[in-house]
Amino acid sequence: MKPDAQPSKDTATEGNTPTVADLGEFKDPSGNPTYLIDKDGKVDWYTWRGYKKYMANCMQCHGPDGLGSSFAPNLTNELQALSYYDFAGIVVSGQKNKWNTSGNSVMPAWGDDPNVMCSMDAIYTYLRARADGVVGRGEPKRIANNKPAQEAEYKCLGF
Ligand code: HEC
Repeated sequence: MKPDAQPSKDTATEGNTPTVADLGEFKDPSGNPTYLIDKDGKVDWYTWRGYKKYMANCMQCHGPDGLGSSFAPNLTNELQALSYYDFAGIVVSGQKNKWNTSGNSVMPAWGDDPNVMCSMDAIYTYLRARADGVVGRGEPKRIANNKPAQEAEYKCLGF
């Protein structure tokens, strides 16, 4: 396991209920995006948004809740070993022949798709929370809306 693939449960959940001012994008000590979960199990905006974007762009191959399908790997397992850097590289450029040596089923490259690129950190954050076992199946409840984050996404999308 690479050093920066370590779960960040401690940093992400330490302390009490966050204030609205805390609801930005969270980074672990290595500077990688991570989640924040409050004592009631509610998640920060990015983790919630990542779920939505995962469902829209990744679920059809990787299955509901990241659990995999017959032709694409279980990402809640894969993220145990993939660093953020590895993840980003694969999502931007695609991947083939690691799982499906026949080449029949490949991971598309998303580097030109703003729907994925504008939310890549959010998708990673959601999957990291799933891989760490701190977010269950289905849509996580979010702590609060995050207007600045939403506006940043829309701006990235060119709205
Ligand atoms: C058209 C189907 C399809 C879609 C849609 C898709 N993937 Fe994949 N993905 C695959 C396949 C197939 C593989 C395995 C490729 C291989 O054999 O190397 C894969 C591999 C991966 C891997 C590497 C896993 C590993 O450890 O080798 C990551 C990470 C990943 N996908 C993330 C995503 C994310 C995030 C999305 C949504 C933005 C997404 N995928 C959408 C089919 C898909």
